[in-house]
Amino acid sequence: MSLKAVVTGGGSGIGLAAATLLAERGMKVACLDLNPPGEPFIGIKADVTDDASVRTAVAEAAERLGGIDVLVNNAGIGAQGTVEDNPDSEWHQVFDVNVVGMVRVARAALPYLRRSEHAAIVNTCSIAATAGLPQRALYSATKGAVLSLTLAMAADHIREGIRVNCVNPGTADTPWVGRLLDAAPDPEAERAALNARQPMGRLVSAEEVAAAIAYLAGPEAGATTGTALAVDGGMQGLRLRPTS
Ligand SMILES: NC(=O)c1ccc[n+]([C@@H]2O[C@H](COP(=O)([O-])OP(=O)(O)OC[C@H]3O[C@@H](n4cnc5c(N)ncnc54)[C@H](O)[C@@H]3O)[C@@H](O)[C@H]2O)c1
Repeated sequence: MSLKAVVTGGGSGIGLAAATLLAERGMKVACLDLNPPGEPFIGIKADVTDDASVRTAVAEAAERLGGIDVLVNNAGIGAQGTVEDNPDSEWHQVFDVNVVGMVRVARAALPYLRRSEHAAIVNTCSIAATAGLPQRALYSATKGAVLSLTLAMAADHIREGIRVNCVNPGTADTPWVGRLLDAAPDPEAERAALNARQPMGRLVSAEEVAAAIAYLAGPEAGATTGTALAVDGGMQGLRLRPTS
């Protein structure tokens, strides 16, 4: 029996890599995105800030997949600045996508997940939830909320047989980070600084994050719920001595 997965933000970066890996492992995958991908996925246009759009898209995904076993809540957007820099409208918008977006999709998917023998939700959180990063006040606040939401959802749904976990990527080499680098005054220097911030000295790949998502989503993680799996080149856990 092949499991059925819904991946939000499945049109790019980490979401697309996760959808690709889940499909390689035999799952049927529907990608919900503002810009959904085509074959081999079921691409469904959806805006996670619009409850009606989410409900319609999740129902369509369940219909075309024949149910939902796995939800990868991954769609997200960034924001830069200190608490002095972002207007209220941007605070509301980024929370709407990164936090309430996950709530909307989970809410719509839960009736299907309850009918699954292997139900799992994986939320894409971030190193920004567990480490203080400069110029990321708003973004970090949303990811801190995602971490807490993951734990609360894991508690609420454990007796329904639904596991809920999150992955905490470090800076990952995705189109999003490419856009950030392009916008920097000196993209090469910016890339070098981001590489150096991670103890492994390099960015994380989307495929490495996808592998963690696929693990948490699959039946082999059947005893794992309410956890955050760091995929961050050692950024959260390690404190190295300087090289020189
Ligand atoms: N790239 C990183 O360094 C990094 C690090 C930690 C966490 N993350 C998280 O990983 C997730 C994916 O990021 P990425 O780097 O792959 O970004 P990305 O920009 O490459 O992909 C994000 C996808 O989400 C979609 N999306 C955005 N807003 C949407 C909306 N309102 N409704 C539906 N879809 C929407 C976009 O169309 C896009 O396809 C995000 O939650 C992000 O916070 C990324």
